[in-house]
Amino acid sequence: MTWLAEITPKHIQNLVPYSSAKREASSGEVWLNANENPFACETPAGLSSMNRYPEFQPAELLTAYARYAGVKPETLLATRGIDEGIDLLTRSFCEKDKDQIIYCPPTYGMYKISAETNGVEAIPVPLIKDWQLDVPTIIETASSSKLIYLCSPNNPTGHVLDYEDMIQILMATLGKSLVIVDEAYIEFKAETSASKLLDEYPNLVILRTLSKAFGLAGLRCGFVIANREIITTLQKVSAPYPIPGPVVDLACKALSSSGIDGMTRDVENIWKNRQILNDMLKEFSFVTSIYPSVANFFLFQVQDAQALMEALINDGVVIRNQSSQIGLNNTLRVTVGTELEIAKFYQSMKAYEAQL
Ligand SMILES: Cc1ncc(COP(=O)(O)O)c(C=O)c1O
Repeated sequence: MTWLAEITPKHIQNLVPYSSAKREASSGEVWLNANENPFACETPAGLSSMNRYPEFQPAELLTAYARYAGVKPETLLATRGIDEGIDLLTRSFCEKDKDQIIYCPPTYGMYKISAETNGVEAIPVPLIKDWQLDVPTIIETASSSKLIYLCSPNNPTGHVLDYEDMIQILMATLGKSLVIVDEAYIEFKAETSASKLLDEYPNLVILRTLSKAFGLAGLRCGFVIANREIITTLQKVSAPYPIPGPVVDLACKALSSSGIDGMTRDVENIWKNRQILNDMLKEFSFVTSIYPSVANFFLFQVQDAQALMEALINDGVVIRNQSSQIGLNNTLRVTVGTELEIAKFYQSMKAYEAQL
């Protein structure tokens, strides 16, 4: 039995995935196997007809993302965003009322929510000095945890996790747990990706998305990158047609060379605007800390987060209060917007300052 089979619950090991019409037959001329309507309705320009079910894992999409990410298509699972990838990992590897996962707050909230939704205990191992990983505690807790979630660049702090720390955790948990690195914001600091470690560590899983730098949050398209055996297990649990046809068309366009050039230009513009936003935040005396960020947002601390939040909302400016997260008392997270949006945020901050 492989190490992965050993950590995979029995009911998933024995699961025979739903044999959809598309999975049973992938080539043919006359398609009468899926109770589809044979009459294609009109589709908007650039989109394929939609009367047929999409492929389970569209080859065109996997090839396009594999080329972009520098990995093999068979190491990918396309999902409806990272959030679906997280949910599939929980449901594929964790058993209700038995298993546990580790997450490292302050961080993205869905690791804990997904675990708890599925009756799996979520153990927090908070970030320590400089918001880096508490490696000894993670390794110690890992002996009873199937999944370990790391987020780099991390949301909401915007910082990158130490690479050597990640390697230490990967090494210590080899053959025992999956280490999942959420790289939702990786395009903003591409050189820090853990993808170089995929060949060496079969317990590494990377989560990626088109929601951030690619500007396609509304499309709902993400990817799990992992070794083939992990991908095969996740495929068993996945919905039979997770990626709608129009999503495939639009995602492939985004992953073409002109699409990637467009994304790169957006990232450069966001970097410029990030500097403007950073300089602007420094002007306000009620902003007590601005945390260095490599991503498209800033976390900053103020004297009274709730009061500022309310003032901004009354002015039509919506940012995010992070104060309820561990270690983030009176902090807010603001996304890097357009110059116009930053100017409006600045005006509202000025109006708040004037009435202090
Ligand atoms: C760290 C992190 N992971 C995942 C997600 C969700 O990604 P997706 O839109 O691909 O589901 C977010 C969204 O804010 C995020 O901040």
